[in-house]
Amino acid sequence: MEVNFKIIRQQQNSAAVVETYLLETESSNTILDCLNRIKWEQDGTLAFRKNCRNTICGSCAMRINGRSALACKENVGSELARLKNPANNIPEITIAPLGNMPVIKDLVVDMSSFWNNLEAVTPYVSTAARLVPEREFLQTPEERSLLDQTGNCIMCGACYSECNAREVNPDFVGPHALAKAYRMVADLRDSDTADRLENYNEGTKGVWGCTRCLYCDAVCPMEVAPLEQITKIKQEILSHKQASDSRSIRHRKVLVDLVKAGGWIDERQFGVQVVGNYFKDLRGLLSLAPLGLRMIAKGKFPLSFEPSEGTEQVRSLIEAVKQEEGER
Ligand code: FES
Repeated sequence: MEVNFKIIRQQQNSAAVVETYLLETESSNTILDCLNRIKWEQDGTLAFRKNCRNTICGSCAMRINGRSALACKENVGSELARLKNPANNIPEITIAPLGNMPVIKDLVVDMSSFWNNLEAVTPYVSTAARLVPEREFLQTPEERSLLDQTGNCIMCGACYSECNAREVNPDFVGPHALAKAYRMVADLRDSDTADRLENYNEGTKGVWGCTRCLYCDAVCPMEVAPLEQITKIKQEILSHKQASDSRSIRHRKVLVDLVKAGGWIDERQFGVQVVGNYFKDLRGLLSLAPLGLRMIAKGKFPLSFEPSEGTEQVRSLIEAVKQEEGER
């Protein structure tokens, strides 16, 4: 079958252009097979990364038809089925470089920020505070199984490329780094858990910078589910911290308390408790004044609060989830 490959091509500091390459392919051909043939048969100047050709090394991540994926994992048939090209036209597949990283050439991006952010979570097991045993540090199969999911990460950058938080917040370390961070927290041989949790709790560079858009989980080719790992770190932090410790902690704890009390959020209480720290943070409270005044002027300030119907059910659901979490 004939397929048009529309490839976004770019030199450093120059505008991107779309070049189209017509290729005779089989639906079982991987996207990487097709890129190789374009390079070998039509245009030797096309640049892209590859290595293992087998979903192991993570080198060939790129945006295929609008979402980040591994070129050696996706094939022509599944891409065309996903896009439902109009009949009678030559089907098209669009290939672009990963997002959130500057392009070096064509589909090759500069991954320096990706690796620097990984380094920022100290992705190594620390046994500094423990006696070194005569032989190796042993783990039970159960302890080892805690690391299975995060251990599958091949550092391809697909999650980082799609991360909305990373796009707007250059401090945020990204889902790949926080998935690795959880791998360290879950590793019972590590002796730095308390320091790690402090580090991952800081400002919006760690777990509180995540906007929970779920794109990282959606595109991860290895089912590492970075958002799930970020959530587990949050749970660890919340179980060790008080609401007074930081606005991020208060945000989560107050939200649950208010929903438990009224079935939904009493916005007035939420602002006073989270931003105003229960009237202890006057500067925080004052920062809410312009918004409050605008809401009053537009008649949108809630003067009273009505608990929602079914508050009892909401409360028992929250209790049930907490109990289940405690039992895990
Ligand atoms: Fe190694 Fe695709 S070439 S993961």
